[in-house]
Parts: sequence; structure tokens; C-alpha cells
Amino acid sequence: MNEGALRDLLVALATSLFARGYSVGSAGNISVRLTDGYLMTPTNSCLGRLDAARLSRLDAGFAHVGGDPPSKEVFMHRAFYQARPDAGAVVHLHSTMATAVACLAEADPENPIPPLTPYFVMRVGRRLPIVPYYRPGDAAMEPAIAEQARTARAVLLANHGPVVSGQTLTDAVYAAEELEEAAKLFFMTRMAPTRTLSPAQVADLLAKFG
Ligand code: 13P
Repeated sequence: MNEGALRDLLVALATSLFARGYSVGSAGNISVRLTDGYLMTPTNSCLGRLDAARLSRLDAGFAHVGGDPPSKEVFMHRAFYQARPDAGAVVHLHSTMATAVACLAEADPENPIPPLTPYFVMRVGRRLPIVPYYRPGDAAMEPAIAEQARTARAVLLANHGPVVSGQTLTDAVYAAEELEEAAKLFFMTRMAPTRTLSPAQVADLLAKFG
């Protein structure tokens, strides 16, 4: 896909996420890898009102070379791209249910959401580690995210929200949506005895779609 088409796709997907409540205010940021750099949502921009022509343009070294100033979370995205050569896009949201999981005092730090449905396993993968809390914009979170991203497609930032990668922009957005739905199902089923997918069922999904 050429850069113009990717700009339009990023704006369309962000608008859709905002319209459906996956992001509010100026929360969240999205990036996509180009052949010679990256496109990223500008800092303080609303995902519901992006302008394709004003998206931040970064060079291959993540320096700002065009458009509005980039998200203050550049290093969060860089952590994923550098740890995962297969990552073509990164989506960070403050979506309510996934963020609620990231606030639980006794969450499993490796897998806080059980494998209730196949699409969660297929899109998000085997692990969803929780990265300890850092202030938004704190560059110190980069190594902590990178360490987990080497073996996880997505992480939850404690008390902050999810960061999800995908091979394409559409993949990353779909995975972020599945993660939010999985978190919702997790809370809906918490009070009742629940059947999760078995380890064999999870292994089967990962073998075919992982
Ligand atoms: P930016 O507006 O700088 O992208 O920050 C938004 C956000 O979600 C911080 O985590």
C-alpha cells in the first residue's frame, strides 16, 4: 500500500475506533511502518478528527521530519518496532475494559485475561504481559516494553492501557478491538463459573493462526 493510501486508512480506522468509543478525548495513538520511516498520530490529536495531510512523518530513525509533532509516546511505538521486525503497525488505546484489567491489583502479570474465545487468542496471541506503571511520555518505559514485546504481540501498561502490534495497520486495529472485547468478556464472566479454552485448544489456534 502506498503512503497516501496508508494515511487515508489510518484516518479511517482511527475515526471508526473513536466513533465506537475505543478512544475518548485525545487519548491513544497509532503508527504504521513505511518503507523509509513511519506515520504517527500527532500529539494531543483526537483519533476521531485526524487530518491525513497533518499526520506526523518520522524517518527510519524515528526523527520527526514532517507533519505535526508526533505523539509523546514515540518510544512506546519504537520499542515494538525494534523488538518485533514483523510489526507493521502499533495501536495504543485507553479503551475502558482493557485499561480496567491493567488496574487490577491481583492480575496475572503474564496473562491477565483468560483465553475465553478463539479470536482473542488468534489476534492477540499467547501472552499479554503487564508492563509496570510509568507516567505517560516517560521514556523509561521503552526498555520495559521492548523486553516484553520480543515475545508478545501486545502488552498492557499498568494503570494506563493496551499497546498492540500487528503485521499490518488493519491487523493491529483488529487485535486492539479483540483485546477490548476479551477484557469485557472477562469482567462479564468473572462472577460465574466459566469454561476457558483448554491448553490444547489454545495450542491448536496458535499452530494455525499464531
Ligand atoms: P499523545 O496525544 O501524545 O499521543 O498521548 C496520548 C496518550 O494516549 C498518552 O498515553
